[in-house]
Amino acid sequence: MRSILVLNSKGGSGKTTIATNLASFYASIGKSVALVDLDSQQSSIGWLKSRSSAKPPIIGIKGHGVKVKRGVDYKIIDAPAGLKGAELTKVLNMAESVIIPVLPSPIDMRAASDFIKNIKQHSRVVTKKAKLALVANRGRDYTNIYWELDDFLERQKIPFLTMVRDSQNYIRAAEKGLGIYEMGPAMTAVDRTYFEPIIDWLSSRRSKP
Ligand SMILES: Nc1ncnc2c1ncn2[C@@H]1O[C@H](COP(=O)(O)OP(=O)(O)OP(=O)(O)O)[C@@H](O)[C@H]1O
Ligand SMILES: [Mg+2]
Repeated sequence: MRSILVLNSKGGSGKTTIATNLASFYASIGKSVALVDLDSQQSSIGWLKSRSSAKPPIIGIKGHGVKVKRGVDYKIIDAPAGLKGAELTKVLNMAESVIIPVLPSPIDMRAASDFIKNIKQHSRVVTKKAKLALVANRGRDYTNIYWELDDFLERQKIPFLTMVRDSQNYIRAAEKGLGIYEMGPAMTAVDRTYFEPIIDWLSSRRSKP
């Protein structure tokens, strides 16, 4: 089973958006998917409740307690904001691939720098049992994003995968319990192109222990 964590201590950076889109993508290609919602706001579980029963099923798991059943191909973990200390260690220990979404604003990048510095010191990351990658979320322009993120990315020394576009499609998908890969291909083509490097990284050895 692949275990993928979407993590950032900053609220509203796009953890739930990326976690639910990954869950929906893997379900749409016939994989067995569990979506683990560690956030007391239960946004991922709420998303799942809006999902039509006609769509490929996704197993929803609330909190830490429940064991993921055998035969699940992908466990996607949606982390809450503000994780630190022992709780952060516990969550990191659940994952082999960690995606960190960051909004391209000075405040968010500064907070992310401190957070990344912290998690890079965790034994699971030091021993390469968990691999980290960065994603810029809610970008509008690829040229600008590189310009805005340049110094920030230079300092982090972890792979930067892509910019997830700021798009109404993510908002529409969230309403319906869907992901962009389950919506009209023409309408979501550009968003898919930008999202794709996340899936490519998760399929590659670079994201695995
Ligand atoms: N790429 C995007 N395009 C458009 N809207 C987005 C995008 N990413 C996130 N949003 C919107 O921004 C808000 C915050 O996103 P999301 O809930 O995914 O963040 P989060 O990190 O899970 O937040 P929290 O820390 O509260 O759990 C949501 O309303 C979501 O629909
Ligand atoms: Mg969330």
